[in-house]
Amino acid sequence: MNFKINIHGLSKHFGQNVVLDGVDLQINSETITAIIGKSGTGKSVLMKLIAGIIKQTSGTIECVQILENGEIKPTSLDEIGFSYMFQNNALFDSLTAFENVALPLVEGNHPLSKSKVKEKVDHLLEQLDLTSSRNRYPGELSGGMNKRIAFARALVTEPKVVLFDEPTTGLDPERKFTVFDMIKKYRNQFGFSALLVSHDIPDVYEIVDSIAWLNEGKIQFFGKPEKIDLISEISIKKYLKTGRISPNNL
Ligand SMILES: Nc1ncnc2c1ncn2[C@@H]1O[C@H](COP(=O)(O)OP(=O)(O)OP(=O)(O)O)[C@@H](O)[C@H]1O
Ligand SMILES: [Mg+2]
Repeated sequence: MNFKINIHGLSKHFGQNVVLDGVDLQINSETITAIIGKSGTGKSVLMKLIAGIIKQTSGTIECVQILENGEIKPTSLDEIGFSYMFQNNALFDSLTAFENVALPLVEGNHPLSKSKVKEKVDHLLEQLDLTSSRNRYPGELSGGMNKRIAFARALVTEPKVVLFDEPTTGLDPERKFTVFDMIKKYRNQFGFSALLVSHDIPDVYEIVDSIAWLNEGKIQFFGKPEKIDLISEISIKKYLKTGRISPNNL
């Protein structure tokens, strides 16, 4: 499906706290976009606004489908089909790893046979090195294991848009690259769009089409990783290339 999500002038205030102050961003089908920025700048708030979990103070989020004849039809993220991997995983403590991953397949509009559910879930668990944890509960597993369970759950329905809020935070380097590789592979296989909040600069750049830098309430840089070289402000260039802030900018 060919679609666009157009975010225009998006603002979010919590009382006096102006978190987002006119975010403009466009997400196209089959693209991977990383949202980067310092802690507390509103990356998670932006994801929640896109998912419709919270309401903006002002601005618009518009989804359109581009039909084969070029006609543009208004749609919604729900109609396109999306999933959300929360920063805190949001797993169910009373369900096993297998049951958590299987949940979107058994509770929604996915009329799959039991054996098909098992096959899909076990395949994902295996890819993420979780087979031996399949019957254990989140409380019995490490932070990195739970992160990967949440990641598997976000992919299991093969959605067209996935909002990943820090999918690799707390993972060891090997598993971090497994997750990045899977995002890339699934994009090629199922043609989804991923919006990915990440602090893994520059590693995440290996898989993205575009980077969106959120700073002081706005997207202050948007483009391919190579475009960073064209930035003239040295401290910003350094931050976007390495994730490091110069001491005088702390
Ligand atoms: N429900 C809420 N009520 C009030 N303030 C909120 C709420 N949710 C977020 N905020 C505020 O919005 C700001 C941005 O928070 P957010 O969680 O989006 O940051 P972030 O960029 O995701 O940071 P991190 O990289 O640490 O995850 C913070 O000042 C936070 O306190
Ligand atoms: Mg966050």
